[in-house]
Amino acid sequence: MKIPFKSLIVFDKESSIPLYIQITNAIIKHIQSGILPTNTRLPGTRELAELIEVHRKTVIAAYDELLSQNWVETVPQKGTFVATKLPTIKPTILAENSSKEDWNTRVKTRINDNSVIYQPPHIQHKLAFNDGLPDVRLAPREELARLYAHYIRYADPLSLGYTNPQGDIRFRTLFAKYLNETRGIQAATNQLITTRGSQMGIYLAGLTILQKGDTAIVGELSYRAANLTFKQLRADLVTIPVDEEGLQVDAIEEICQHKKVKLIYVTSHHYHPTTVTLKPERRLKLLALAEKYQFFIIEDDYDYAYHYANTPILPLASADRYGWVIYVGSFSKQIAPAFRVGYVVAHEAIIEEMTKLRRIIDRQNDSILEYCLADMLENGDLKRYATKAMKVYRERRDFTSSLLKEALGDKIDFKVPDGGMAIWAKFAADIQLLTLSEKVAKNGLYLANGQNYKAENPTLNACRMGFASMNQQETEDAVRILKKAI
Ligand SMILES: Cc1ncc(COP(=O)(O)O)c(C=O)c1O
Repeated sequence: MKIPFKSLIVFDKESSIPLYIQITNAIIKHIQSGILPTNTRLPGTRELAELIEVHRKTVIAAYDELLSQNWVETVPQKGTFVATKLPTIKPTILAENSSKEDWNTRVKTRINDNSVIYQPPHIQHKLAFNDGLPDVRLAPREELARLYAHYIRYADPLSLGYTNPQGDIRFRTLFAKYLNETRGIQAATNQLITTRGSQMGIYLAGLTILQKGDTAIVGELSYRAANLTFKQLRADLVTIPVDEEGLQVDAIEEICQHKKVKLIYVTSHHYHPTTVTLKPERRLKLLALAEKYQFFIIEDDYDYAYHYANTPILPLASADRYGWVIYVGSFSKQIAPAFRVGYVVAHEAIIEEMTKLRRIIDRQNDSILEYCLADMLENGDLKRYATKAMKVYRERRDFTSSLLKEALGDKIDFKVPDGGMAIWAKFAADIQLLTLSEKVAKNGLYLANGQNYKAENPTLNACRMGFASMNQQETEDAVRILKKAI
């Protein structure tokens, strides 16, 4: 088959990239894609020059470049052929007058540096004292799979097109009702937006409220990804202490007296990372301060679904009369983190702005997932599942707590949490958490190395130990590995 070189070698005479490099790159691209296989004879330089209407010297320069990079070889008296042994394929394409190094440096200096928000990738282990993740084996997977398949097969074609970036209206209606029944939050559908998860909710809320240099208050310690979000939005982060009763709200007033505070981030229900609950008097004080100093509160209620005491404290959002609370949550802990549906409840003006922003970040949520969730809200499956999971996790909390106390004695100190999915464990001074975490990882167990909070508190030797994702046998194995390593 005759190869159509004229149409294969496309270049732009107006480009600042030299012609011979454009021709070289085009030929490399076709060798890589297999259009020009090994041993293909390339046209002679005169022939190609005429064919693509460039000076012969340009083609000679291109062939020389290909030769020097080992993409082609010349056989005396016969011509130029695609090399039998191709060079290792690197994603680098030559650019104008530059070596590869120059090119990399130039790219790097022209993009934004986001090293401040770098977080190491999540490590998955079968056995894990993680940050507090659910056991996805318990999730209603069959039910979800059935509903998802149903919607893909039979949904009205219109409902599989672009929909409302604020979220499916049926889901929002049913979910608003659910929030009211389970958490005392009163929200109309225009006060609710769906997101991919709490993280997106925190980001959208920050983006809506914060401007460069604005003061945002967080606890010391606090959820690291939220801190990074506010830093990325160029806020000025101010920390206040967190004790056994949650955020020390009195410290907020002191700050408000000499700074214009724009935002406070709280994980009121189970403080992240230390798991304590913000006490009722402090909640009321916080709401009153928000009204007095006109700041917003992002209430991240990431694992409200799991409270083991009889009467859970209702979210701040349920008592907010003035619209200062931006309530954020998701189904990551309630079902599974891979299941990306989250939500934000706030004043409709905030939701309206968030919807505009969400629309340019991500056109809309996975609407099929929202249809499935709407069904599960309507038929009560979601509530039934939450009740079942809560029972299992309460047992796991108790089992893990007593096993850790029994096996590790004075090497570990913690208070059994009232809810959530993790224990905040402080290790004895003679245990190096960093070393311990590396040691247990070699035996297949994940344990956080405590580095997340070192910047705020260098002497801290503590980490979260999730108890929900492992069954009893796995917890026993995990504790055995931990004990041996200690
Ligand atoms: C306190 C807290 N907030 C937010 C998130 C983000 O979760 P997602 O975006 O999956 O809802 C997490 C995840 O672990 C979390 O622990």
